[in-house]
Order: sequence, then structure tokens, then C-alpha cells
Amino acid sequence: IVLDHRLLQHPEAAPVSSLLYSGFIEHLGRCIYGGVCDDPNEPASKSLLLDQGDYPGGTGKKRLGLRKDVLKVWGKKGDLECPMMRYPGGNFVSNYFWKEAVGPVENRRKRRELAWQTIESNLFGTDEFIDWCRESGCEPYLCVNMGTGSLEDALDWLEYCNGTGDTYWANERRKNTGREEPHNVKLWGLGNEMWGTWQVGHLTADRYAEKARRWGHALKLLDPTIQLVSCGKEGSNDWDREVLQKCLDVIDMHSIHLYSMIGYRDNALAVNYPYEANVFGPAAGERNIQNCKALIDIANVEQCANGKKPRDIKICFDEYNVWDPVVAKPTEGNEQIYTYTDMLGFCAWMNLLVRQSKDCPMACLAQSVNDIAPIICNADGILYQSIYFPFKLFSNYMKDGHVLSMAPFKDVYDGPNHPESTQILGLRPSYIDAVAVAVTGQNKDVSIRISLLNRHPSAQWDAVLDINSIEINDVEIHEIFTENLDSANTWMQPELIKPDVTKLSAKEWNEQGAKR
Ligand code: AHR
Repeated sequence: IVLDHRLLQHPEAAPVSSLLYSGFIEHLGRCIYGGVCDDPNEPASKSLLLDQGDYPGGTGKKRLGLRKDVLKVWGKKGDLECPMMRYPGGNFVSNYFWKEAVGPVENRRKRRELAWQTIESNLFGTDEFIDWCRESGCEPYLCVNMGTGSLEDALDWLEYCNGTGDTYWANERRKNTGREEPHNVKLWGLGNEMWGTWQVGHLTADRYAEKARRWGHALKLLDPTIQLVSCGKEGSNDWDREVLQKCLDVIDMHSIHLYSMIGYRDNALAVNYPYEANVFGPAAGERNIQNCKALIDIANVEQCANGKKPRDIKICFDEYNVWDPVVAKPTEGNEQIYTYTDMLGFCAWMNLLVRQSKDCPMACLAQSVNDIAPIICNADGILYQSIYFPFKLFSNYMKDGHVLSMAPFKDVYDGPNHPESTQILGLRPSYIDAVAVAVTGQNKDVSIRISLLNRHPSAQWDAVLDINSIEINDVEIHEIFTENLDSANTWMQPELIKPDVTKLSAKEWNEQGAKR
């Protein structure tokens, strides 16, 4: 590992924001009911629930309790130090009517939910989500319904959340929450995957772009302090090009989505290579960020040619993960038990997000609880999945610093299959994948955090760390290793996969640690 230590002082070194470790919760499977809050049909142990009291203005019926153990994991001051949470979808949002899910419980209307074909009780809605954010310390990130919703609905939602004047919706919020202060939601998504034929009310790129411009303009008239996120595809698509070109002056971020593994079983080239598909597939996500940044640059060239100022639009990867829909079926709430191999794929995601964080400073892990998630809940507690551990290490350590440049590794995978990306040629991801971040402490000492992933199915390499002139004081190594690539944590064996921690003094490091 050859690190360029000169970048420690370099003003252009890419900063890493904690927003990279944001989350996403959707009304899907047991993510909300049975994850974030209690499920009235399968109640959690009482000791796990944070009592939310009665609905203000209601008849005394209690709100659903919030799960304390999930708050402890996903809170800003919790284990994963999560700064921001995206809600309420996902595909769910494209037929979501927020007004049905505020106010006293007896007034909440049930609705046939079209994305996942369930009945939505609406017992958890905007105010409950904001209460969850207040408890967890996460900033809220809401996405508006651009499928079946109207601009009026979206404006009313913004006024309900952020209005401070004497208006109907701001007063409704005061009445429903019993509090004066607004919810103050600063980040708003303009629809979810509006390009997908599965999306209720999906649109063509030109119709979406035109609609997003009109909606964005109106939302910012109502509250100019908000930031808007346009709905992108995977970043390299003609949809992204057109939306960026037409919406650049109303948006602040452009969102992209990609799940690795999702298509490998249908992909003729990949079908025999699930391991490679898993561990190398995320490379497509990295190329998509780079391509999307190029599309932003191109849109800016046109913006300038039209006499407008360029805009520093950033990318938000607001859905990413390893997801095998054959294992985690949408009809069964997408609950995937993540193996050690899945975790290697997940580490590749983490590495590339940090590497590209200058252009993509925000990402939301899809999703956060139960469905395709690092934690799974039952009535008595939480199961920590394999992917939980790298996410925790990254969210705790790989932030608030700068990315260091690193010499490339020469052994690359050259096989045929990159699911989701067989159309991208020449990705050639390396077997050893690494990223490093330097964090300067208060007394100017520098801590260098290196994530090193060996994704060769059998080969082992010695890692020799070369940071020439830097003097090392002490070293901490968190290693996640198992012989069996298919092993996973389960309720029966919950601790098969977890990091081993070794602490070495400078002397011990020099004697034995540098070659490991
Ligand atoms: O995260 C699961 C689903 O994947 C989301 O609802 C949707 O946006 C994406 O297709």
C-alpha cells in the first residue's frame, strides 16, 4: 500500500462528509412496523419500546412505541453515527398521501399500497418520523410523491413541515404535535425512480424534467432554504443527462441508485459467477458516479452558454447495497441474510463511496432495518448482519478527513461479468481494493484510516504499508475474516462474523505488524 502522504496538507484533497453514512427507511416489509416502531400484529417486548404517549387531540389512543434498540444503532450518537435518514420511500412514495398519516389515530385512513401490494395502516407518518429523528438526532430527508401526488400536496407537506406563520397547515402541525417549532426539513427529493416502469405514475425523462422544474420552482418559492434532489437513474443514463440538463438551475443534488447482485441471475454472462458478480459488481457504481459527474459538467457548459452561472451540483447515492432479490424476495419484505461474500461486496461499496466522496458526498444505505438491511429485529432484540460491521467501521472512522491518493494495485479481475454493468467495458477492478482517509486531530496529530479489502476467493497477500516519512505511534487493526465464504450470522449463530481487534504499539508494529 503506497500512500501519498503529501496530500495530508493538500487543500484539494477530497473531504469525506459524514453524510456518506446516511440511512433510508421505507414502508416496506418490516422496515417501519416491526423495525423502526412496534408492529401491532407482532408486538415487541415492552422493555424494547420507547413510549410515545397519546396522539395529541385524539381520544387517548397511544402512538406506536419506537424501538429503542434500533434508535441506539441508527442514532446520530448511536453505534452507526447516522447523520440523515431518507423517508418514506422508495417505490412506496409514488402513491403516498401524507395527509392520511397525520393527526389522531382514529382519523388515519388505511390504503391499498400499490408498490409492495400491502395494506398501509398509516399509523406511522410524518410526525412519527420526525419524532424518530428527534430521538435519534438524524436529520430528516423527505421524498415527495411525483407519481399520483399533486404539486398542491407537495406544497402543503412542505408548509406542514416548515411553515412558521399563521397558515392552515402550519397550525395543523402545531395541533398534531403539541409543539410550536417546525419540523424544519431541509432536504427534499423530487420523486423516486420515476423512470421505472414499476413506479406508479412513471414518466419519460422529458416529462419528468419538465415536472421537476415546475415543482422545484414552486417549492423553493414557499421555502427558499430547502435543498432539492432530482431523481436520477444509475448516473450514466440518458435519463440522467436530460434531467441534469433541464433541471440544473432548480436542484442542489442529483440522486442515483444502484444495487449490485440484483441482475446477476438474469444475466447470461454473469450467471455462472455469483461470487465475482457480488464482489466486483459495485465497480459499476464507481464508474456511474464518475459518469454522472461528467454529465453535471456537460450540463454546466450548456448553462454557461445560456448566460447562467455554473452550479456546483453534487451527487447523492440515495440507494445502494448488495441485493439478491431471489434470496430476499420483495413479496417477503426483502429480508436478506447477508453472507461473508455479500459483506465483501458491501466493503467494495464502502471503499468506492469514500473514494468518490468529493463528487458524491452523500449516500443512503438502502435500507436500514429488516429489509435488505444491516440489522434484523425480532420481538426480543437485534441480529447484527455481516454488512453491519464494515458499515460501522466506516461510519465511525472514515469521515471528517481527507481521502489520500494511493498507488493502484496491479492484480485485476478481468472476467466477463459485472452485473448491472456488462455494458460498461474495461472496469477491471483490482483484487485488493483499498481507500485511505487522513483525519487531523485537535493537536494536529494525524490519524490515517485504511480500509483494505481482499476480494480474491482464495489468494492471500502480504500488505506492506509504505508511508515513508510518517512516524507511526500506535496502530489498531480491525479484521473481519472467516474461512467459509458462505457463512452468515443467524439467530442460531449470531456472532460468526465480527471484527477481531488488535492494538499494537509503535515498537510492536515495527517488529511484526508492518507485514501482515
Ligand atoms: O429499496 C428497495 C426499492 O428499490 C426501493 O423502494 C426502490 O426505490 C428501489 O427500486
